[in-house]
Amino acid sequence: MKDFIFDVGTKILFGKDQLKNLPKEIKKYGDRVLLVYGGGSIKKIGLYNKVVELLNENDIFFKELAGVEPNPRVESAAEGVKIARENNLNFVLAVGGGSTIDCSKLISAAFYEDCYPWDIVTRKVKPKKGLPIGTILTLAATGSEMDRGSVITNQKTKQKLGWAANFTLPKFSILNPEFTYSVPKKHTAAGTADIMSHTMENYFTLNDGAYLVDRFSEGLLKTCIKYGKIAYEKPDDYEARANLMWANTWAINGLLDSGKDTEWSVHAMEHELSAHNDLTHGWGLAILTPSWLRYCLSNDTVDKICEFGQNVFGLEIGEDKFKTAEEAIKLLSEFFKSLDIPQSLKEVGFKEEDLPVMAEACIKNHKGNIKGFVELDEAAVLEIYKMSYK
Ligand code: NZQ
Ligand code: ZN
Repeated sequence: MKDFIFDVGTKILFGKDQLKNLPKEIKKYGDRVLLVYGGGSIKKIGLYNKVVELLNENDIFFKELAGVEPNPRVESAAEGVKIARENNLNFVLAVGGGSTIDCSKLISAAFYEDCYPWDIVTRKVKPKKGLPIGTILTLAATGSEMDRGSVITNQKTKQKLGWAANFTLPKFSILNPEFTYSVPKKHTAAGTADIMSHTMENYFTLNDGAYLVDRFSEGLLKTCIKYGKIAYEKPDDYEARANLMWANTWAINGLLDSGKDTEWSVHAMEHELSAHNDLTHGWGLAILTPSWLRYCLSNDTVDKICEFGQNVFGLEIGEDKFKTAEEAIKLLSEFFKSLDIPQSLKEVGFKEEDLPVMAEACIKNHKGNIKGFVELDEAAVLEIYKMSYK
């Protein structure tokens, strides 16, 4: 096991009756709030009214940034910074899914900087402080409510890039599984695939002796397989939504890579898909992951993939380990299919000529080969895109 520091200072308020604590939590950090949300789902489920009521009742001044897009655009963050500066705001409250939270993180970071927010995403500017952030999560997927990361899209440059800063870690996050009852089937499936992908990006490494965290990972994967399906079929199943929500938070908050050397291969490849075609992130991950595992399968990796098959899907490791590994990958694929996630890049509108363009951009944006489970260069990424295209 490698050395690590685990320090995640986000306070989690989990459950049905936690929203009432919102004013108290905000007032620890500020009293002039930028309320950030997406395309209106929080209004449909009545959450917007509840939040506004609580802010008003507690004399918390607020202004709004509405309409943050899935795959949030840099322009929305720029607009948020403008509103926050013009109104002298001192706290950012994100109410929504990962896109809303990620956009809020960029607003927080750009608030004190004399630059266009994209300069922060590309690391031209390295901010040292930002506005404090709190979140009310409405979709279990990205784990952004308890991590420092943010992923932003620039449609002009056709780039979707991740960045992070220490101060972007939310101060608190309110997680009420009931707020996710209304998540459409498509995003329930995509969110489940995203949680699983975060877990697998951490899980598939070689010889690091991190036995304990790999067992945590397997527990999260089994949770997603069990409850992803239930939530997909019965959206208001509290137990399913609650387990998915909590799994989501733990998949990317630093626990599952503690003591491990990880480099996220599938996410690097997927971000090119979303940048190119505005594809839903979790769908892209579910399409790429089985091909990526098949590409990685070798004498070096077969044992790890068999371990996955055995501990996650209950497979027995047969005499031919390669067969067991292939069976495990097939079961993963079938699980995604059972959530009606498309199975190929062709199905979601990509053309064959897109693949080399995206492979080149992937390695360029990654600033070199991806040194994950198996090192991937441009040719390898192209091969995985091709395997996922059929
Ligand atoms: O915009 P609204 O109207 O809110 O609708 C959203 C959106 O259309 C809807 N939705 C959310 N909660 C809902 C709901 N609809 C009904 N009821 C609810 N309770 O769902 C749609 C998707 O929302 P979005 O926030 O885009 O989804 P998600 O949470 O999956 O976030 C995806 C973004 O996060 C990035 C992805 O790349 C993508 O841009 N990621 C962020 C990460 C991070 N910060 O650590 C890591 C991830 O790997 C990922 O890359
Ligand atoms: Zn993800």
